[in-house]
Amino acid sequence: MQNDYAVTQKVIHWLMGIFIMLDLFIAQKFGNFVGDHDGFIAYYNETRFASRVDHATMGYILTALFVLRVYFRNRHGGAELPANMPQWQVRAAHLGHVGLYVLMGALFLSGIMTASAASQPIVIFATFDVAFGAADESFFQAVRQIHELCTNLIIALIVIHVCAALYHHFIVRDHITARMLRFWKRVEN
Ligand code: HEM
Repeated sequence: MQNDYAVTQKVIHWLMGIFIMLDLFIAQKFGNFVGDHDGFIAYYNETRFASRVDHATMGYILTALFVLRVYFRNRHGGAELPANMPQWQVRAAHLGHVGLYVLMGALFLSGIMTASAASQPIVIFATFDVAFGAADESFFQAVRQIHELCTNLIIALIVIHVCAALYHHFIVRDHITARMLRFWKRVEN
């Protein structure tokens, strides 16, 4: 364990934070049609269809960032927590971070599976059709529900994560949040 994250880890952290918010925003354009048939709505609603392509494109970019993130996490490790931090907070921090990684993995995997079973093409980067599986309405709806559940769980965990960061910065006033914000200089303990 070291005292700070590598710059690549910080860049990926913030890029993923911004892109997840954007992807969530795009998903709001079609997210209300939960009970509808994939083929029917996708075929007859142009806006929804275009948003779905944008959403999946951003989702695949996020998946690539996630793979890089796991790689750099294994290579550089995480950053140390202050020695005087209460044990329950240390455990909660580890649990929260593991939860975020697991949920991100489940979110991207369920998104890829949902897209793969769609009945209409989902052509990302105007090149690759990620609706590569056999069109299957019931499988599509099932994995889409899992995808939505993962979305709701990760939103809850991100809110807790942000609250914890604000707590460290403004109440405890330690270096934990600042070190993720500073790219140009390592923050000393
Ligand atoms: C590889 C990554 C991803 C892919 C391929 C993907 C793909 C999809 C697809 C195909 C749908 C169903 C669209 C439809 O109903 O026709 C969907 C729905 C949705 N996705 Fe993703 N997604 C990905 C990542 C994400 C991420 C990162 C988020 C959250 C930030 C997210 C949030 C949602 C939400 C909220 C819905 C709407 C659920 C609903 O109400 O049905 N997805 N996604």
